[in-house]
Amino acid sequence: MMRDADPKPVRLADYRPPDWLVDTVDLDISLHPTATTIRARLAMRPNPLGREGSPIVLDGDELVLKSLALDGAALAGNAYSVTPSSLTLLAPPQQPLVLEIETQLDPSANTKLMGLYRSSGTYCTQCEAEGFRRITYFPDRPDVLAVYTTRIEADRAEAPVLLGNGNKVEEGEIPGTSRHFAVWHDPWPKPCYLFALVGGRLDRVGDHFVTATGREVDLGIYVEAGKSARAGYAMDALKRSMRWDEEVFGCEYDLDVFNIVAVADFNMGAMENKGLNIFNDKYVLASPETATDSDYSSIEGIIAHEYFHNWTGNRITCRDWFQLCLKEGLTVFRDQEFTSDERSRPVKRIMDVRLLKAFQFSEDAGPLAHPVRPSTYREINNFYTATVYEKGAEVVRMLKTLLGPDGFRNGMDLYFERHDGEAATIEDFLACFADATGTDLGHFALWYAQAGTPQLTVTGEWNPAEKSYRLDVEQSVPPTPGQPDKQPLVIPLAIGLVAPSGEDLPLTLTDGSSPAGGVLTVDTARASFVFRDVAERPVASLNRGFSAPVRLVSNLSTEDLVFLARHDHDPFNRFEAVQTIAFAYLIEATQAARSGRNLPGPEALIAAMGASLADPALDPAFISQVILVPSESDIAREIGQDVDPDAVNAARGTLRRAIGTALADPLAHAFERFAAPGPYSPDAASAGRRALRNACLSLLAEAGTGEGVARALGLYRAADNMTDRLQALTTLAHYAPQHRDEVLADFYERFRDDPLVIDKWFALQAQIAEPGTLDRIRELTGHPAFSLRNPNRVRALIGSFAASNPTQFNRADGAGYEFLADTVLGLDGSNPQLAARLLGAFKSWRLLEAGRRARAEAALRRVAGKPGLSPDVTDIVSRSLA
Ligand code: BES
Ligand code: ZN
Repeated sequence: MMRDADPKPVRLADYRPPDWLVDTVDLDISLHPTATTIRARLAMRPNPLGREGSPIVLDGDELVLKSLALDGAALAGNAYSVTPSSLTLLAPPQQPLVLEIETQLDPSANTKLMGLYRSSGTYCTQCEAEGFRRITYFPDRPDVLAVYTTRIEADRAEAPVLLGNGNKVEEGEIPGTSRHFAVWHDPWPKPCYLFALVGGRLDRVGDHFVTATGREVDLGIYVEAGKSARAGYAMDALKRSMRWDEEVFGCEYDLDVFNIVAVADFNMGAMENKGLNIFNDKYVLASPETATDSDYSSIEGIIAHEYFHNWTGNRITCRDWFQLCLKEGLTVFRDQEFTSDERSRPVKRIMDVRLLKAFQFSEDAGPLAHPVRPSTYREINNFYTATVYEKGAEVVRMLKTLLGPDGFRNGMDLYFERHDGEAATIEDFLACFADATGTDLGHFALWYAQAGTPQLTVTGEWNPAEKSYRLDVEQSVPPTPGQPDKQPLVIPLAIGLVAPSGEDLPLTLTDGSSPAGGVLTVDTARASFVFRDVAERPVASLNRGFSAPVRLVSNLSTEDLVFLARHDHDPFNRFEAVQTIAFAYLIEATQAARSGRNLPGPEALIAAMGASLADPALDPAFISQVILVPSESDIAREIGQDVDPDAVNAARGTLRRAIGTALADPLAHAFERFAAPGPYSPDAASAGRRALRNACLSLLAEAGTGEGVARALGLYRAADNMTDRLQALTTLAHYAPQHRDEVLADFYERFRDDPLVIDKWFALQAQIAEPGTLDRIRELTGHPAFSLRNPNRVRALIGSFAASNPTQFNRADGAGYEFLADTVLGLDGSNPQLAARLLGAFKSWRLLEAGRRARAEAALRRVAGKPGLSPDVTDIVSRSLA
């Protein structure tokens, strides 16, 4: 049965504590491919903070109720009512009681991949946000914390491995049958969204970890039979994460076991279920031959992220789903810091800001914009967004910038101490930092409530007569859906004044004070700062390290930016200076492409990139970021209105060819110089060299210089690793169409039995910027290896087309939009969450020029008009059109 397609919005302001609490949950789950039974025994009591005399209302979804008993006695039919989405005990005794519920479900028919389902025959679960109600009737909300004991029974041949949350306390055979069982007990109270179980034929990679206080933890990673050799990197990342969290946050693991299971069919990346993380296998499995450097670093980051949730999310959870950023934003911040410590901090910051701008700034500028903590939602699944995650992490980072490292750590310590075992709110979180540091964070809290990317306009002026430097800062936040008027925010603006020598000047304000750490606090619509003792004209380095997630507009000239690119002590701003020059050029070049005008060459940009390439002091990974030309969607976002994707593509191509031509020698030289000295290693330094080589290769091939294509062919054939092979293949597929079919066929044959690699093969073809691509994609949907049932495959072919092929998705004839709409409609019945995510590709449709805008709108309206849409798709399509 379906839920109501257009349910009433849920409002933060309507929060009420639960009327009934659950102290313990005893589950007895008998796994069967089509008829799994779940017996749940819930020890409940009225909540002293709830409404007196309340019924017990439990959530349910697609469940078959088999039996129901209260304190050991079957319930009469008139004592309860069942709807498709609930089970209500109408007049329960107002005292502690035990409810026994037996339900049945069909895991093989569960294509939504929420609740209990099967992935390649393995039984697994996904309960966040509201999937537990698809397993048993329960108050499915994160502020109901209970202690769980789970007995899992299954056919031994079908599921020799049985895993649950917590520690295993018992296991055995069921005499006279082919079945066996295991009992798992999790001593830590948790919300039901952290429940998980797994049953299947899986290989195990085992290891141990000794915690800071000397407790030994058994570590297990479970993968599809035959793939255990590919789990080593994930295990290593797990152990490094566990150590790091002890050292940096004082967080120690709290069970005897920590298990991770990799499954092939998963809607998301991974899930932090207590003691039993479940992962999309893409974020566990890696070998040099099959995984790229970027796959390795995603694995490291996601393993860390899910592990870090053990304290930020699990020990302290969210009171309600409006508080999602309390665990996600904070945990993203923590995983970013982990990666910064394990790899290169500047390069990590550059990549995170790139991601923030690409996904969050664009979300914030369109119809799906919402605050980091939304105040209303119709479908919570659609709020696992770049805003909640990436902007949520930025807000935590700003808190650290404002309070300093010690103040931040004291606040975190207080948070862990004060709220352990609780379901908390953003107010609780902020109060810990306020109390630990004696800071009023009332105004800062607006970052959680106000949507939209602030614009900061900074004008700097040197006064030679006064030997002073004045910065005038103006902030404004654009209107967003439901929030027409905005207030100024508290913006930590890290700056430097760079002298002609390249040295940072000491920052002394006219009152004699110095901003701590070079951070100015801007908390009004306008502010001015005057620095004294500035004898030479400096160049202002603004928003260093991207200290605030804002759009910066300044009066720095191209010459100033070229200077910063070469001299700034802040590596982020060295990078950003080049990007700023590139954006200015690309925006003009796009206009020129549309009007058939000629533009003077990008000399300043080429010089800045050339200087980076030639600088032996720079990290190759950093240089690879500097010479990367902004993507087409980055350019479109910066243009901001009336975007013609073909003109953007033309401008970008022209620029890349200009760079490849002008810098052919240094690019070819770098390609040679950074060749790997030995066999493949995924470490950050080696990955950085490959990233630089491959960036050089791509520019050379597009420009048709430096033997780019020949080098790419050579690299493809000789590669001992997937990073080089895929980069060579991509370069050939885009810039050497004469070799395309041959190398694509070769790649397919080499990896036909490796689904994660075949995903790359699908994705690559979907991204070719040619008119034939849509037909190729249509044909590929009929390929024997394509399936709408596997989310990774759908995202590879259709998701990459919509997200990473701007000219073809945005075809002027609207065929790209119609194709996506058809796919979304075809998918909605089986996997609405995935369908809704794909539909998110329309999030910037209003920025397009009129013709495409009309066609995108027509496609959205066609989706909206289809009867029987899921709540997930209904929510996205209606907000997109609003
Ligand atoms: N708690 C989420 C997983 C999740 C997301 C469950 C959406 C239900 C709905 C998990 O911690 C997470 O955030 N995973 C990310 C990866 C992470 C590194 C940002 C994901 O799955 O994309
Ligand atoms: Zn998370």
